[in-house]
Amino acid sequence: MNKEQALLKDYTMGNLKLKNRIVMAPMTRSRANNPENAPTDLHVEYYKQRSSAGLIITEGSQVSKKAVGYINTPGIYSKAQVEGWKKVAQVVHEEGGKIFIQLWHVGRISHPDFHNGELPHAPSAINPHVKSFTPEGFKDTVTPKEMTIDEIKLTIQNFKQTAENAMGAGFDGIEVHSSNGYLFHQFFNKCSNIRTDEYGGSIENRARFLFEVIDEIKKVMPENRIGLRFNPSMHGVSGMIVDEETIPTFDYIIKRLNEYDLAYIHLSEPFTNVSKVPYAETHIAKRYRTLYKGAIIINGNFDQEKGNKIIAEEFADLVSFGKLFISNPDLPERFAQNAELAKWDLSIFYTPGAKGYTDYPSMLNRT
Ligand SMILES: Cc1cc2nc3c(=O)[nH]c(=O)nc-3n(C[C@H](O)[C@H](O)[C@H](O)COP(=O)(O)O)c2cc1C
Repeated sequence: MNKEQALLKDYTMGNLKLKNRIVMAPMTRSRANNPENAPTDLHVEYYKQRSSAGLIITEGSQVSKKAVGYINTPGIYSKAQVEGWKKVAQVVHEEGGKIFIQLWHVGRISHPDFHNGELPHAPSAINPHVKSFTPEGFKDTVTPKEMTIDEIKLTIQNFKQTAENAMGAGFDGIEVHSSNGYLFHQFFNKCSNIRTDEYGGSIENRARFLFEVIDEIKKVMPENRIGLRFNPSMHGVSGMIVDEETIPTFDYIIKRLNEYDLAYIHLSEPFTNVSKVPYAETHIAKRYRTLYKGAIIINGNFDQEKGNKIIAEEFADLVSFGKLFISNPDLPERFAQNAELAKWDLSIFYTPGAKGYTDYPSMLNRT
């Protein structure tokens, strides 16, 4: 493969050798439409097709029944789920790829329909006023139940247990989904966390849940196989609102992560234009490059040119691509050849079956 491009150069992440700097971003595809919400042979095929990525990060996978918030998303807490994931990890390794699983808890983005009528759990009882993707279609979110200390401790243990399950399933590592308006993000931001105990109030308290989760997870797996995902300037999406303490909270978290030997932090540039949003940071990679000494994966609307540029400029070490990987299973090869890219079809991102999932051809298979 042509190694001239920055994206195509290999990279050593901790003790893991990646064949290029092209990461497949985690993407929910809602194909685990079976009673166990276990990965199937279709998942095996989908990830196999994309194993030329330097690193695959799987779709968000719930850490418990309570963590779910979308239809047909896989978990990693039950035996059947672990068995399904084993086949995925195995095939990616057979193809010479590397794969982390994303561990997920949606918190208040869930809906009572997923919990026999009981309320979703969140740091505080504040409705995000967005939509939840339920078995009966999109529904308004509700006011969640404020988690008790015992429920917080149990959730921390769920992350620890599923990290252990992930290592047992043969994954190279895990990514904690501490991003995009879900449970961890709900702890970080004041718009969703008005707790007055040790998990709310100060910046340090709002970050506590994350650090307790990492400290538990590293008891069952190597620290340098743990990745964390953040979207500091997410605003007006999934109920998140940036305020004067948001960026200082992420600064605090990310600086403190220098005390750990993590695989990486995975950052998103703002999903929306936040240039006029007070207190938002418009240049995430640039800001956090100076604050964090470890590996940075950057994400958000990158293409080949922008990806090569940001690595060459050294604001990030790797770039993750989402939608481009849906429609271009052999994305690294296409970048190497400067080949044409296929367009994705939004209408079949989350529909069951092979259509829009495993039927995007690679260049070699095109007729
Ligand atoms: C269909 C779809 C599903 C997604 N699911 C997840 C997910 O499970 N976990 C996550 O962290 N991000 C998820 N995202 C966000 C992507 O990882 C990525 O941040 C976003 O698509 C922007 O990157 P891109 O411009 O390269 O597509 C999803 C995005 C899409 C399009």
